[in-house]
Amino acid sequence: MKIQSNEHEALKEYYGRTLTGTKDLKTNACCSNPGMAPASVLEILKQIDPEILDRFYGCGSPIPTTVEGCTVLDLGCGTGRDTYILSSLVGENGFVIGVDMTDEQLSVARKHQPSIMKNFSYHGQPNVDFRTGYIENLQSLGIEDESIDVVISNCVINLSPRKEDVFKEIFRVLKPGGELLFSDVFASQRIPGILRDDPVLLGECLSGALYIEDFRRLLNKLGCPDYRLLSASPITIANPELEKQIGGIRFHSLTVRAFKLKNLEDICEDYGQVAVYKGTMREHPHDFQLDDHHRFIRGKPMLVCGNTAAMVQDTRYGCHFTVHGNRDVHYGPFDCDPGLGDSSSAGGGCC
Ligand SMILES: C[S@@+](CC[C@H](N)C(=O)[O-])C[C@H]1O[C@@H](n2cnc3c(N)ncnc32)[C@H](O)[C@@H]1O
Repeated sequence: MKIQSNEHEALKEYYGRTLTGTKDLKTNACCSNPGMAPASVLEILKQIDPEILDRFYGCGSPIPTTVEGCTVLDLGCGTGRDTYILSSLVGENGFVIGVDMTDEQLSVARKHQPSIMKNFSYHGQPNVDFRTGYIENLQSLGIEDESIDVVISNCVINLSPRKEDVFKEIFRVLKPGGELLFSDVFASQRIPGILRDDPVLLGECLSGALYIEDFRRLLNKLGCPDYRLLSASPITIANPELEKQIGGIRFHSLTVRAFKLKNLEDICEDYGQVAVYKGTMREHPHDFQLDDHHRFIRGKPMLVCGNTAAMVQDTRYGCHFTVHGNRDVHYGPFDCDPGLGDSSSAGGGCC
């Protein structure tokens, strides 16, 4: 299968040669607010070389918790900032694979591997492997079916000209119950094709952005009818010339989580199930935020829909929850309304 396209080549040029660091970005789309990262992650960042941090082009903080011992895949890892954060979080017994198509990005990532492993006090084989290739074809990079616990990605999928292939690959490589957690730029409407031909608009993560409703349809088509939104923040392009080209399209950086689960339904259904968080995740002793409208307080029973029950029971979170009830008796649709007002800007998948 031939993956490489003119768009891939234009992007390699952009990330490999045009940009030399975050300071070269022409908009604030691919540049997240570091305040979004939790304190534990900020501590890890201190052990990562500044050259990596200076070439960070992410738009959020798709950093999962409770990943000790897990195998994590970082799609479009760039110079490896998030890959190395995960290397620390999974510990020496876990493993992280970073995939990127741009040699210049990966050479920075690889250069600092020995010193970062040392900073993390890892003495055996490195628990990180950077692979050169396309996120549309992970098979060719030796990433087997159902081999990955968590897939992350930070501001990359918008760039792919073949997004369906990317999501197909993600659901192929995830283990049953595995999680996709990613931050990306989403658009309020479908973007005219002509804007995609502009290397700056594309490279700056704008003109390839997915229209949120098409994202929902795509996931649904691939067997995942319910994704969850963790956070949403508007992107202000802050470049009058590019704003003029873009017209009235609005952009948001969203952090989204989705699970590979067989029993998800397209709307939330009420089976009278109750979930109780045990408070046993090291990073979340008091409460656990599944998404923007489910905060589980330790020990407090919470009535949940069938989908939410599956997400906390049939995934790596399962050992941290007690779920009472099953799907034997159905009580009708479940009101999961997050009450955020403008759902088009929040884009939540749950109801
Ligand atoms: C906006 S940067 C984000 C990099 C990194 N995630 C970060 O947060 O710094 C996009 C990265 O995705 C890579 N990329 C874009 N499209 C890709 C594709 N189809 N396959 C593999 N890598 C890709 C680029 O080479 C670039 O390093």
